[in-house]
Amino acid sequence: MESSIDNLHLNKQNSLIAQAGDLAQLVGPRGKNFIIRLAHAEKLHTHRGILDHDGLIGKPWGCQVYSHLNRSFMLLQPSLADILNDIRRSTQIMYPKDIGFILVTMGIGPGQNVLEAGTGSGAFTAALAYAVGKEGHVTTYEMRPEVQKLAQKNLAGIGLSDRVTFKLRNIEDGFDEQGIDALFLDLPNPYDYTSQVRAALKPGGFFGSILPTTNQVQRLLVALTRDNFAFLEVCDLMMRYYQVDPDRFRPVDRMVAHTGYLIFARPILMEVKPFEDEIAKISSDELSSKS
Ligand SMILES: C[S@@+](CC[C@H](N)C(=O)[O-])C[C@H]1O[C@@H](n2cnc3c(N)ncnc32)[C@H](O)[C@@H]1O
Repeated sequence: MESSIDNLHLNKQNSLIAQAGDLAQLVGPRGKNFIIRLAHAEKLHTHRGILDHDGLIGKPWGCQVYSHLNRSFMLLQPSLADILNDIRRSTQIMYPKDIGFILVTMGIGPGQNVLEAGTGSGAFTAALAYAVGKEGHVTTYEMRPEVQKLAQKNLAGIGLSDRVTFKLRNIEDGFDEQGIDALFLDLPNPYDYTSQVRAALKPGGFFGSILPTTNQVQRLLVALTRDNFAFLEVCDLMMRYYQVDPDRFRPVDRMVAHTGYLIFARPILMEVKPFEDEIAKISSDELSSKS
């Protein structure tokens, strides 16, 4: 079912009641949750019984609802993180921990025109589409048709398709776009595409990538330096959840130890050697102070 952006209802402040067309999250007692789009005459089948959408429409968010087996669920509006974690996937996806930091670091916000490759299952595409808002646009490249199809379905399911152009292409052949604000690569060999990235990004725009292993990162750093990208940064983020029992407040036993290294850089004009004069001056000042 294709749905309109107005029905996305992510973080919508003034909606107290679940309505047909809304995305709803039903959470069971052990945290198992189901994200559905409410529609008249539809049913949700779960291992704890069936829920009629018509029995949910008109209920206040935050209330308790019951399946035909009288098993309870909480009725909530899902966050973007809930939606991304729930997304159907045929590839590795990016996770909210990394996505949030990438969006703020690359300055991605309303009205921007951004590019990414590969689309994969569309988790990051969804986050980009959410961040750029109604006035912005996301163009996403993927070379495998079956993967692209799933991403298109995922984006349609959350009502964000009309902010996204999907292109079926190996980025080896370059991007059609130019003067782009921000470009992100989530594919195994971004170091082979730095000249294509440079051609698409505006000078001073934001480039980012995520890579699972250090040898890939090292190759990317070499390629970025060769192609005159500046302000190179590499980091990885560790996130640890806590048990929320006030009497036994401590980290949970297990954590995701590694998702990927995040690499950021900005293309500057090819003829510019950043801060060359100042660096030369500092070196000569240091030399003269030592002599
Ligand atoms: C790890 S997945 C991307 C996951 C995505 N960021 C998400 O959050 O769902 C990597 C994708 O890049 C695609 N890919 C790899 N090399 C590519 C290339 N040269 N051009 C276009 N797509 C490519 C793969 O087919 C794969 O679907």
